Amino acid sequence: MRADTADGGMRAAVIHRYGGPEEFRTETVPEPVAGPGQVLIDVTLAGLNYADLHCRTGEYARYPLPAVLGADVVGRRRGDGRRVAALLRSGGGYAQVARAEAAHTVELPDGVADEQALALLEQGATAYGALTLAGRLRPGETVAVTSAAGGVGHLAVQLARELGAGRVLALASTPAKREFARSLGADRVLDPGDPELAERLAAEPGGVDLFVDLVGGRVLRAGLDALAPFGRLLSVGARGGAEESFSVDELADRSAGLLGFWLQHVLADRALFAGVAERLFGLAAERRLVARIDRTVPLSGVAGAHRALAGRETMGKVLVDVRRED
Ligand SMILES: NC(=O)c1ccc[n+]([C@@H]2O[C@H](COP(=O)([O-])OP(=O)(O)OC[C@H]3O[C@@H](n4cnc5c(N)ncnc54)[C@H](OP(=O)(O)O)[C@@H]3O)[C@@H](O)[C@H]2O)c1
Repeated sequence: MRADTADGGMRAAVIHRYGGPEEFRTETVPEPVAGPGQVLIDVTLAGLNYADLHCRTGEYARYPLPAVLGADVVGRRRGDGRRVAALLRSGGGYAQVARAEAAHTVELPDGVADEQALALLEQGATAYGALTLAGRLRPGETVAVTSAAGGVGHLAVQLARELGAGRVLALASTPAKREFARSLGADRVLDPGDPELAERLAAEPGGVDLFVDLVGGRVLRAGLDALAPFGRLLSVGARGGAEESFSVDELADRSAGLLGFWLQHVLADRALFAGVAERLFGLAAERRLVARIDRTVPLSGVAGAHRALAGRETMGKVLVDVRRED
C-alpha cells in the first residue's frame, strides 16, 4: 500500500520513548523545515545502521522525543529535483521527507542505483575511511575484517581486495555468512565464536598487518595477539559489554599500533567526504564494489528490521522504502 498524506504532513516511523523495537509507530508528523545550509529531501529509501539500535534504546544519541531515527537516506532534493544521498547526524531518516546538511549531501551519478548509493554512503565510507585514512593499508598486506558479512564488513572485504591487500581474512558467525564473505574475495574465513579463535588467528602465516574490528571484546583481543610486527589493530565499532584494555607494554612488545576510526571526522571535511563518496560511486558504477541488499521493508517494517539486525540475521544493508507501509 502506498502511504499518502492529505494534510501536508508526512508519514514516518516514530518513537515516543526509548526502548525496544515495539516502540516504533507509523504516524503522520509535520515535515521538517530546512534552516541555513540545509536541504530537504523527498526520501525514497532510508537505511538501517547498527547505531540505530543504540539510538532507539537511548544509549547513543538521545534525540528529543518523539523522534524519527535513521542516519542515511536517498531521494530527490527539493528545489532542483536532483537525485541525492545524505547522512543525517541528527536522525530523521525513517520518514518521507528528511532534512540534511547540504555539506553532508552528495549527488548521485546515473550509473549508481539508489539502493547501491544508500548502502555505500555511511557503511562504505566507514569501510573505505577505516582501511585508508586510519588503517593506511598498503598493497600486499594481510587484512582481517570482523562482522565480515555485515553492512560495513562486506564492503570492507571487497575494498581491501580493491586496495591491493595480499590476503583477506573474514570473521563471520554462520556458515552462510562465511560463504558470502568468501564469495566477496576473502581468502580465509573464521568463526568469531570458535573457542580457539585466538589460536587460529595467531597461526596466520606472517601474521595480520591490519585487523579491522567492528565488534570489540574478545575478538579485538584475539586480533591484537594475531598481529604481525608493526601490525595495526583498528577499532571501528563495538557491541557493548566487556571491553578489552591493553597496556602500552603489550603494544610495544609487538611493535603494534592501536587505532580508532570515526566517520564523523570524514564528514567534518566536505572535500574529503565528497572525494570518498566519488571514489565509492566510481567503483560501484564499474561493478567493482557491489553492496548486498539484505531486505527492503516498508515503514511499518522498521521494528522487524531492527529485530533482524540485533538478532544477527542480516547480511549486507537493510533498507526502508518510506513510500510503502503495507
Ligand atoms: N566508527 C564509525 O564511524 C562507524 C560507522 C558506521 C558503523 N560503525 C560500526 O560498525 C559496526 C558495523 O555496523 P553495521 O551497521 O555495518 O552493522 P552490521 O555489521 O550489519 O551489524 C550486524 C552484525 O554485527 C555482528 N555482531 C557481532 N556481535 C553481535 C551481537 N552481540 N549482536 C548483534 N550483532 C553482532 C553480527 O555479525 P556476525 O553474526 O557475523 O558476528 C551481525 O550480523 C557497528 O559496530 C557500528 O557501530 C562505526
